[in-house]
Amino acid sequence: MKNYKIAVLAGDGIGEEIMAEAIKILKLVEERNDVSFELMPGEFGASAWFNTGHSFPEETKKICDQADAILKGTIGLSHEESKKIPVEELPERGALLPMRRRYDTFANFRPVYLPASLAHFSPLKPEIIGDGIDIIIIRELVGGLYFGEKETGINDQGLRYAREMLEYDENQIRRIVETGFQTAMKRKRVLHSIHKSNVLKSSVLWTDIVGEVSEDYPAVEVEHVLVDAAATYLCLNPGQFDVMVMENLFGDILSDQAGGILGSLGLMPSACVGPEKSYYEPSHGSAPDIAGKNIANPYSMIGSVAMMLEMSFGMDEEAKNLWKAMQSVFAAGYSTPDLSKPGIDITMVSTQEFGDRVSEFLISQ
Ligand code: IPM
Ligand code: MN
Repeated sequence: MKNYKIAVLAGDGIGEEIMAEAIKILKLVEERNDVSFELMPGEFGASAWFNTGHSFPEETKKICDQADAILKGTIGLSHEESKKIPVEELPERGALLPMRRRYDTFANFRPVYLPASLAHFSPLKPEIIGDGIDIIIIRELVGGLYFGEKETGINDQGLRYAREMLEYDENQIRRIVETGFQTAMKRKRVLHSIHKSNVLKSSVLWTDIVGEVSEDYPAVEVEHVLVDAAATYLCLNPGQFDVMVMENLFGDILSDQAGGILGSLGLMPSACVGPEKSYYEPSHGSAPDIAGKNIANPYSMIGSVAMMLEMSFGMDEEAKNLWKAMQSVFAAGYSTPDLSKPGIDITMVSTQEFGDRVSEFLISQ
């Protein structure tokens, strides 16, 4: 029997309640497969700071170091609560980015998936959605402006200024571009490279590398699209995209926009893959306004479990079953209050009940 160690970092806000549903599913997966999971909980985020004085405590780092994969919930508290935390210990700067750097999780996969059962969530017109949306956004996650040198001060004219560096070397670009090509090979063999080479030198280098790497993948058709135009096409004709690859900040922005065309970031799980370790997380925040109310949809958290099963543990079939189970819950007319307004055809269920329904569908497969 395979045994995997999973670091479980529920985090802040709705993290705890959606993670509880993910764990419910993991237990069920254990029962149905020849596998066992050792769950290792750790503190992470703003709540960790309040409890330990660090948003990514040493203890949690040790747990993550030992784990085969990391399952992370959501981080961040309300604006009021966040003000109590020193800037460098805020969960984004003090926990999330250090985790990305620690495990060099350079490849961030964000599926933008809207099958028929979810189509009613989208703000797009049915004629634009067509047969549904099925895109993978691949975002470089450990370079660019996020991690470049930063400086603030007073300039010669006595004005406050801020400066930050957008830097990529060719190896950093090549590895994420190769990830894009490899993913395209497994799908429709079309890769959209998103850039801003009409302005940015980093994008010129990016596009050069895309050209070089493409020689190793003659079967993949490459489309070069400027990032601003890509934002428009995502709204007007999302069906033209299959695999999109881009640098860090472009990916941050376009993946949120992609959540918008699905109807909610609550429908966006993600995988952050490094050379040795990967972590899995919802793409959205901790929604402190609805935390503890048992109304947050656990789709993105359970979807992150599905991605972990496939990408870290090679359990492709069970991952597919899990996706199908979640879609079946929506197709059967269930939803949670955070995603839907009450409607004639919608049965509103809680976070927990949604997880129970997913379990039932999974068992029935
Ligand atoms: C994301 C988030 C993070 C990012 C924040 C919380 C630092 O928005 O994962 O997309 O900007 O990468
Ligand atoms: Mn983001």
